[in-house]
Amino acid sequence: MEKITAKDSGILAIGNSKGGVGKSTFSVHCAFFFAEKGYKVALIDLDNQGNSSKHLLKYNKEASLPAYVKKSDTNTVLKGNAVDLFLNELSDSQLSINSGAIAVFQPNLALANINNSIDTEKTATFKENISKLLKHRTIIIFDTPPTLGNLLLIPLSVSHLVVMPTLLKSYAVDGISEYIAFAQKIKKAMNPDLILGGVVPNLVNKKSEVQKTALADLNRDGKASNLIYLENDSILHFTEKNVIEEAAELGIATWHIQKNSTRPVKKTFFTLFKQISKQLKLAADK
Ligand SMILES: Nc1ncnc2c1ncn2[C@@H]1O[C@H](COP(=O)(O)OP(=O)(O)O)[C@@H](O)[C@H]1O
Ligand SMILES: [Mg+2]
Repeated sequence: MEKITAKDSGILAIGNSKGGVGKSTFSVHCAFFFAEKGYKVALIDLDNQGNSSKHLLKYNKEASLPAYVKKSDTNTVLKGNAVDLFLNELSDSQLSINSGAIAVFQPNLALANINNSIDTEKTATFKENISKLLKHRTIIIFDTPPTLGNLLLIPLSVSHLVVMPTLLKSYAVDGISEYIAFAQKIKKAMNPDLILGGVVPNLVNKKSEVQKTALADLNRDGKASNLIYLENDSILHFTEKNVIEEAAELGIATWHIQKNSTRPVKKTFFTLFKQISKQLKLAADK
């Protein structure tokens, strides 16, 4: 399959076959980060729970935010239904993004049919729409559902990079190996240029001996296989932070919250997104 390319642009999938690991959180923050860098961003929410699209669409609505919130002047717009990207060839105007905006494609129940039916024609329509969407200085982000079905396979088949948040509980670590194997299969069969960017441990509890051991194991194995991101020379990860939850509640990026507790989280997010910029070979990384 031919790679979709455009100047200073990239297609990114956030995935894990488990729920509650931070996929939507990372998708939303990635969208804010690149929009604030001046990219046009499309967030395609493929999970029927709609968490990332709801978060982003709340952004323009919040009338009375607390005084410690300082938003950027990015605006978000509802662009359409994610399911249409699979089913219909969309026009240029349906796929153009107004400058500076984050364009959101919302999920709906019809997505379930796509996940379970195998229809290669859908891949072609999807690919066509995505390549139309990917114009100069555009970042497309897929927030994928917790599945190993078509709603993961099709986006991964057109993506340049996949980022994998995970928990460090033992069932989750098993799940991530399964997910990596699936992504490697797609890379081999359909998308040889796909970069398996890395596993990002989230909601890490450093008081847990089990999780501390899992983190050390992942640091070692991930470094050996180039499957992690680094912060201060060891594995980049997120612990449980109230400001992340608060940001979701307020419909903003965590770094819009001006509190001391935000600083280290902001640093970790920015460190991650800069490495993602590098993997996507974006000008933003310079
Ligand atoms: N590091 C974190 N600290 C605190 N809350 C978090 C963190 N990461 C995610 N959350 C919260 O955990 C919940 C699940 O995260 P979410 O991104 O929706 O997971 P997924 O999309 O994988 O199901 C959300 O309520 C989110 O706000
Ligand atoms: Mg989600």
